[in-house]
Amino acid sequence: MKDLESLVARTLAEVAASADLAALDAVRVAVLGKKGTVTELLKGLGKLPTAERRSAGADINRAKEKLGAAIEARRAQFESAALERELASAAIDVTLPGRGQSVGGLHPVTRTRLRIEAIFRRAGFSIAEGPEVEDDFHNFEALNIPANHPARAMHDTFYLGDGRLLRTHTSPVQIRAMKLQGVPIRVIAPGPVYRRDSDVTHSPMFHQVEGLVLDEHVSLANLKAVLAGFAEQFFEKPRGLRFRASYFPFTEPSAEVDIQCVLCDGAGCRVCKQTGWLEICGCGMVHPNVLTACGVDASRWQGYAFGMGIERLAMLRYAVTDLRLFFENDLRFLAQFSRG
Ligand code: FA5
Ligand code: MG
Repeated sequence: MKDLESLVARTLAEVAASADLAALDAVRVAVLGKKGTVTELLKGLGKLPTAERRSAGADINRAKEKLGAAIEARRAQFESAALERELASAAIDVTLPGRGQSVGGLHPVTRTRLRIEAIFRRAGFSIAEGPEVEDDFHNFEALNIPANHPARAMHDTFYLGDGRLLRTHTSPVQIRAMKLQGVPIRVIAPGPVYRRDSDVTHSPMFHQVEGLVLDEHVSLANLKAVLAGFAEQFFEKPRGLRFRASYFPFTEPSAEVDIQCVLCDGAGCRVCKQTGWLEICGCGMVHPNVLTACGVDASRWQGYAFGMGIERLAMLRYAVTDLRLFFENDLRFLAQFSRG
């Protein structure tokens, strides 16, 4: 009986000292399990003399109940502590501000294209489209650039191998629109174009917007007025404009148009390479050969065409100095345009 008392006392101490459910269960198995000390005592009752058996059995069973109850109480403690911990860690602070939702925005090149379209729409232009995968006829031949013409080298072309190519400019849409709509015509054609070209101001894929106006009395003066009006609205203040004589096989005369640098107002800075001027487009009066190739009577109809780089205009409007930023899709860059 003395041994039983000390076994109970020792076990109660172990129960109290057990640090977690696993330790508690180990104590239970050692005492009350199939081969536990108390279980063994009960099994050994048969070997006692009959006179002692009865009271020993009662003592052992009392000890067994006492220990069982102590173990259950400790288990309940662990379980409620675990619940408390879980409740505490899952607590919701309803006073915290919400995370909100991040809203996407249009790409700066798309914004610029939409802005250009809106300005020309107000000036009576409609929008024409053409395929990005073009054929030689529309991209070169009909634009007065025959197979061995040196001007082909100006556009380093991606060929598809089956005679087709990725359009190198939006000018083939002039041809398609003229054939489809006839004359008079007043369209712009924005879209992606492709060239084997890559540096801070050139990329292999970029966007142009083509303009084409044909009627019975259209002159270079009309072209100048339209481009001046466009520049003033796009940059939100009047800009000096300069026509530099240039060469395109599909226009005659041809010019490249510079506007007064929007960053330094013509004083000279890094962006305009100290010249005070920035090129925004190529243009000219549509060559009679182009009109003829499209079945338009060149003795009666004439007009102008122009082609501007959309990224170029976006760079100027947003003061971006490296064209490649537009194509890297870095959200830190793009997010700056999400509100306009
Ligand atoms: C042309 O592509 C002519 N088709 C424009 C034209 C149309 C002339 C109608 C006459 C009549 P050019 O190759 O210069 O011309 O390109 C026009 C504009 O596209 C340039 O002023 C420039 O802003 C932009 N550009 C040209 N190459 C690239 C490039 N690799 N990356 C970004 N922008 C470019
Ligand atoms: Mg050029």
